Amino acid sequence: MEDCTFVIFGATGNLSRIKLVPALYHLDAAGRLTDGMKVVGFGRRDWNDDAWRAQVRSWLAERQTDPEVLDRFLARFHFCQGDLDDEQAYGRLHDMLSGGDGFSPNIVFYMAVSPAAFGKVSRQLGEVSLARESGGWRRLVIEKPFGYDLESAESLNHSLNRDFDESQIFRIDHYLGKGTVQNVLVFRFANLMLEPLWNRNYIDHVQITHSESLGVEGRAGYYDGAGALRDMIQSHLLQVLTLVAMEPPANMDAESLRDEKVKVLRSIRPIPQSAVNAHAIRAQYTAGTIGGEKVPGYLDEPGVPGNSVTETYAALKLFIDNWRWRNVPFFLRTGKRMAKGNSMVAIRFKHPPQQLFRETRIERLEPNWILMNLQPNECIRMEMQVKQNGLEMRTETTRLDASYCGINPAQLDAYEALLLDVIEGDHSLFLRYDEVSWAWKVVDPILKVWSVEREYITGYSAGSWGPPEADRLFLRQDQYWRNTLDDSGEGRR
Ligand code: BG6
Repeated sequence: MEDCTFVIFGATGNLSRIKLVPALYHLDAAGRLTDGMKVVGFGRRDWNDDAWRAQVRSWLAERQTDPEVLDRFLARFHFCQGDLDDEQAYGRLHDMLSGGDGFSPNIVFYMAVSPAAFGKVSRQLGEVSLARESGGWRRLVIEKPFGYDLESAESLNHSLNRDFDESQIFRIDHYLGKGTVQNVLVFRFANLMLEPLWNRNYIDHVQITHSESLGVEGRAGYYDGAGALRDMIQSHLLQVLTLVAMEPPANMDAESLRDEKVKVLRSIRPIPQSAVNAHAIRAQYTAGTIGGEKVPGYLDEPGVPGNSVTETYAALKLFIDNWRWRNVPFFLRTGKRMAKGNSMVAIRFKHPPQQLFRETRIERLEPNWILMNLQPNECIRMEMQVKQNGLEMRTETTRLDASYCGINPAQLDAYEALLLDVIEGDHSLFLRYDEVSWAWKVVDPILKVWSVEREYITGYSAGSWGPPEADRLFLRQDQYWRNTLDDSGEGRR
């Protein structure tokens, strides 16, 4: 691996503290950073290198660290004092990086700042020639949300492209760094037995659920303007959908993979504004109880305006109009303050065409399911029917679990893999602009309707599985939500 300089804009912020610095530490501990790799924090505080290192040390104090690795790690850290709005600060950054202090000319610029600043920072980097690849590569990492809707995404992209080429831009979706999300591809394309079943002839529908028991956690300022549809569905859940639904790529290189993902997004049947209510449900949590603790409703969270109708729950029904998936519904669902935090892809198969077993009526015969749990525990499980013990010819559900089921506390977070990919220049797990743009086209009609219907929003109690209205997305009575691996939906049918 080549040496590089890793510049963090927004160095003292949450993302840096919670995700980036710990991930870089883990990479160092795993021996994955070169000796010449340095980290430059760019921030407003009046700090020098030592103060910044002390801050990083205190962030890592809550985690398990090795003293030797920690010293080596902290020695990589440097600080560049500056305000994002101060043009001269970028000049200082330029001088620092080219000033003979051993900073590698291969530079990653990581935007751990508010999305409103993306365009401004990239422009200033261009102005001081830090975007130009002279003597080394330059890469720009952008967090979501990439725009606010289709139009603002276009204009952000346009503004980044003034200074950075598409090949230099890494749009991160941290979901793609999760082990089981990548496993969706391995599971599908390394196991021949699944491919013949993976289509409209055998699959009844697909559910992709991300539920959280947490609320807005002090992020009301961002979240209230975004809502669940933008925050989770436009980005993470549509990405998962592309991996579940895509055709096998020509090979695993970044462009082949992303070409196939884009084809899925382009094939999603557009939802006309007149049909939004039949395809999308939104709701907001009210006060309730989670894990025995009382929690306030969304409107009582600090920073949330008392009349907000921002959705903290959203569920969608989508159809992919291609040969493989025609008329198979894909249900996408996410919510904050739900009963449990869990993310899962649940694939439900059709019933066998004929009921052959005595005393098990066809409508009671459970269909097969494949459950891919993304978090908190990674697991792939198949539910099959077997004969019950005893003299009767009755069926019961049994589960075939992939062996890596269970919580692995030592597992690396999604960011480690993605940061390494940036340093190695691998775009496979980053979004190309056309993916972002097609994903906005899917949700834009819904956003438009919701933005004008602002008088009322359905509530759901914190600690529940969302509003009962979400059931009306289903096409038939025998369809029901699968919430977690161990919840078979019994009782809701
Ligand atoms: C982020 C969203 O992108 O993803 C958050 O902004 C959400 O609102 C988070 O909580 C979920 O990701 P994870 O990895 O914590 O499950």
